[in-house]
Amino acid sequence: MLSSKKHDDPVLKQQIETLRTELVEHNHRYYIDDAPTIPNDEYDALLRRLQELEAAWQQQCGEAPPPNSPSQTVGAPPSASFAAVRHRAPLLSLANAFSDAEMEAFYHRVVGLVADEAVCLVVEPKIDGLAVNLRYQDGHLCCAATRGDGTTGEDVTANVRTIADIPWQLAGDVPPLLEVRGEVLMDHATLARLNRVRREAGESPLANPRNAAAGSLRQIDSRQTAQRSLRFFAYAIGEGAKQLPATITTQHAMLAWLRQIGFTVQPWQQCQNPTQIAELVATWEQHQRSAMDYDIDGLVFKVDALEQQQQLGMLSRAPRWAIARKFAAEEVETAVVAIRWQVGRTGVLTPVADLAAVAVAGVMVSHATLHNFNELQRKGVRVGDRVVVRRAGDVIPEVVRSLGAESRPPLSEPPSHCPACGAAVVREEGEVALRCESATCSAQLLQRLCHFVARGAMDIDGLGSRLLARLVDAGVVASLADLYCLPWQRIAAWDGIAAKRIANLQAAIDHSRQRPLARFLFALGIRHVGATTARALANQFVSLDRVMAASAEQLSEVDGVGARMANAVCDFFACSANRALIAEFLARGVSPQEAAPQHDAITALPLAGHRIVVTGSFDGWTRSGLEMELRRLGAATASSVSAKTDTVIAGAKAGSKRARAEQLGITLVEAANLSAWLQQMEG
Ligand code: IVH
Repeated sequence: MLSSKKHDDPVLKQQIETLRTELVEHNHRYYIDDAPTIPNDEYDALLRRLQELEAAWQQQCGEAPPPNSPSQTVGAPPSASFAAVRHRAPLLSLANAFSDAEMEAFYHRVVGLVADEAVCLVVEPKIDGLAVNLRYQDGHLCCAATRGDGTTGEDVTANVRTIADIPWQLAGDVPPLLEVRGEVLMDHATLARLNRVRREAGESPLANPRNAAAGSLRQIDSRQTAQRSLRFFAYAIGEGAKQLPATITTQHAMLAWLRQIGFTVQPWQQCQNPTQIAELVATWEQHQRSAMDYDIDGLVFKVDALEQQQQLGMLSRAPRWAIARKFAAEEVETAVVAIRWQVGRTGVLTPVADLAAVAVAGVMVSHATLHNFNELQRKGVRVGDRVVVRRAGDVIPEVVRSLGAESRPPLSEPPSHCPACGAAVVREEGEVALRCESATCSAQLLQRLCHFVARGAMDIDGLGSRLLARLVDAGVVASLADLYCLPWQRIAAWDGIAAKRIANLQAAIDHSRQRPLARFLFALGIRHVGATTARALANQFVSLDRVMAASAEQLSEVDGVGARMANAVCDFFACSANRALIAEFLARGVSPQEAAPQHDAITALPLAGHRIVVTGSFDGWTRSGLEMELRRLGAATASSVSAKTDTVIAGAKAGSKRARAEQLGITLVEAANLSAWLQQMEG
């Protein structure tokens, strides 16, 4: 809170508070949830605005921003799923510059502060990844931690060991304790592959490489991390910097040494004055950036001489001797060849612009989304127009604006019929999306099938989208349930399908008849029902009959199921075509199994009917491990505290959830009492 001083301005104070709250929330979404809701450049603009307002405030009443302001902190506190690691020396962030003028100011500031005349800078690409600190004891990798809030990070050692660029053992003579810092990232090819798999599994694509890398590094199971082919570039040394070989007196010598001991480092260049700086920025921004096989969002300029770095020292969140020159989000011009309406798995019609292929930030783009009819109209895009396309923070390209003439006839009306099946298109009240609601729509059928057979759903191996399309085209599959009565003899006569493949497919389809209820519910592709909601429903209702018979009210009593989801489930099972579909499944031997004990057995468990929220971190338990144990005892676990919650288990650093529990008068179990409480519950 800002304290009141003589000349303070309440409006300014309020603006500052609002911005701080907003930035703290964005930090949480970016660093903890790996799911930002605004592009990086918008975040930068908000942070900048806060810095300006704080400076104005400081001028008015001489009060510096508090240490917990987002302008003074780095990232967000570590999540409780991983053990916390306190950094021996803080992991800092970098100040940003957005123009040549700001770079010139940086250069002159540095020159003014160092005793010597000559200042040489080293420039490296700024990777859009995530900072990691690697600790080596006698040359052996012993601990890897994310940056967290700069002081305390998350222990990701097991996952980091799966990254090929990170040596487990260093080469040559190194200080007994050495910390190497750098960036973990996912390159374009890997991200494209991962998003293809996610799309096939009906999951939304990852927003950007940074979040993809962060999500991959923070997997509970390191085998998952291993599959993501992450990369690592080293750029700095933490602990041990004072024990480096005497010849290392500059940043560039340090990079060369890091390479010698086994790391991959990025190419670097040197420069000596503002003109050279501006030239470097221009060539990188216009040419080299798009030639990289991973995303960079700027260049980092560092004072080369380590002694000068020492003299310049640190500010609270960043060193004075370095700065990040951010690039503008890359925008490229191209032509619209066609505009078509794509029908999604849930029947939503999305306008897509087919483009003359063009490279945007290193990736070839030949179509871009126009989001929905409102956006299409607002942007006034027409076939033949030249348009500006960007990938910004997002991987999915979008049309930013049309360069077409201003005064042209208005756009045509939105489509009234589905381009795939011809059924009437509807628009739900309060929704922008147009939707085809036909259960027999062929466009939806193929996509529903792809979702149905995907990993995480019915997991039918060997049944890829091509074969599914062939089955649909040949008219042998007209509904999801048709997968369980395929005319095998006929299919065996098709070209290119070996007998062995048929046998494997038959076995895989057969095997899927017994999938757990949660998977089956997810596989049905009910609107708003993702894998987590499906699991919550299966846990609560245990059998398919009970889910089908539940009222919207009963459904919404399940933790994590809101009114919208409850209505969608109710509507789905109320629809006679869908009931007929379920009957077909059952008749063809699909009998979804719930892995949890039967309802009666559940109610006999010690924590049956208990809704528990676990927050903070615990000695001897990971949060998910503790949650699993609670579920084993019959409890339902949830991530947010509400009036429905019975108990909150609060470990170290429990924050807002504990406060909310106290506010609502919910039973609190402290970490110190956890074992005793568990013992008591287990009876
Ligand atoms: S040096 C004390 N060099 O950008 C300076 N950072 O926005 C430490 N980053 O926290 C950072 N590429 O996570 C440095 N070549 C590079 C970088 C780089 C990306 C990240 C790093 C830093 C963030 C600041």
